[in-house]
Amino acid sequence: MVNATDRDTATEYEQVRASIAARFTNPLDLPKEIFSDTSVYREELDRIFYGPYWHPVAHRAELGEVNSFKTTWLGEVPILVSRGADDRIRAFVNTCTHRGTLLEQRAVGVAEEFQCPYHRWLFNSGGEFCGAPGEREFRSDFDRKDYALPELRVSEIAGLIFVTRHPDTPLLEAFLGECADPVRDCLLDDGELTLLGYQKVVYKTNWKTYFDNDFYHAPLLHTGFRILGWQGGKGDVRITQPTGHFSVGYQSTPYVDNGYLADPSVVQFRGTDDRARVVALRPVTVLTKHVDTINIRFARPRGVDRTEVSYAFFGHVSDTDEYRAHRVRQASNLLGPSGFITIEDAAVFNRQQMTATDGTLARFVKGVDGCPEDATQNDEIGNTVGWANYRKVMGFDH
Ligand code: FES
Ligand SMILES: [Fe+2]
Repeated sequence: MVNATDRDTATEYEQVRASIAARFTNPLDLPKEIFSDTSVYREELDRIFYGPYWHPVAHRAELGEVNSFKTTWLGEVPILVSRGADDRIRAFVNTCTHRGTLLEQRAVGVAEEFQCPYHRWLFNSGGEFCGAPGEREFRSDFDRKDYALPELRVSEIAGLIFVTRHPDTPLLEAFLGECADPVRDCLLDDGELTLLGYQKVVYKTNWKTYFDNDFYHAPLLHTGFRILGWQGGKGDVRITQPTGHFSVGYQSTPYVDNGYLADPSVVQFRGTDDRARVVALRPVTVLTKHVDTINIRFARPRGVDRTEVSYAFFGHVSDTDEYRAHRVRQASNLLGPSGFITIEDAAVFNRQQMTATDGTLARFVKGVDGCPEDATQNDEIGNTVGWANYRKVMGFDH
């Protein structure tokens, strides 16, 4: 039954939507309410996070052995990724099927079974219900198979595991389109990565602001880019139509010691493939391969004005101990949330969120008139294809 308050709220939301749509006349000029309105945020969860998109949740290297698991979130849904006793990787809703307690709290680990603390129900690493205290007195229609953990569709490319909740999500390769090969390139494509560790941060910003961190700003905002002489250039730009996944491949310029860094070895390149690559997968995942750092940034919205990002860093099974130590040191110092070439982003994210209710527009202007094939690395066209799709998916285009 719809009560008067629900009706008022629905009408209010229709008005908000209409006013956003009226100002959102093209994908280059964004009405800033979309970064601050909670009803828009709720709709994004339904249409995007629970809609026909694939979402990266783990790399196979994080699930190194049978019965390994990782917990994460898809939008506001808790997810348990588990490598079962049969070696198959599955993803479940991480919620006890009894009364809905969060089942597993650890970030990663190895477990044959998951036990809910509330009434001690047990589930195996394949998600099956496998026992509970007092089961003989359970209701007469109780059937164990009705109480397995709800499972999500899973697909994998280059060891990167994706999930979707929507039945109509296309096959992963088609979803990634032009950016499928860049994903393989970024993750070295042999499934032989090793996990080095994580860093986690909560940015005070809307998830779209975090993801929309363009290439135009890189040498301008970041002092580190200038010190290192990394200005960007033509690059190899790929954009997936119509979704707006975006990738740039480019030649890393070796750092020439100019006296700024007390220990230049932290930015030294010691590998064999010095082509850098960034892949931004909609809605909110970023992969980078830069110097000797391989990084997946798993992100999730935590409300309309918070974004949590878990930076996972990887090496390769062939790494010597020394090379591995170099990768660890370089990863967090250079590209982690407080890294030398990324630290200023947090401040700008926050400053953008501080103005998200001022009623003005956020606008894209640089290199956005041409076609994606002609784009250079420092243009904003990598952002705008995705915004055109967002406008459509959210129904703001009419
Ligand atoms: S809520 Fe999990 S066992 Fe009861
Ligand atoms: Fe940045």
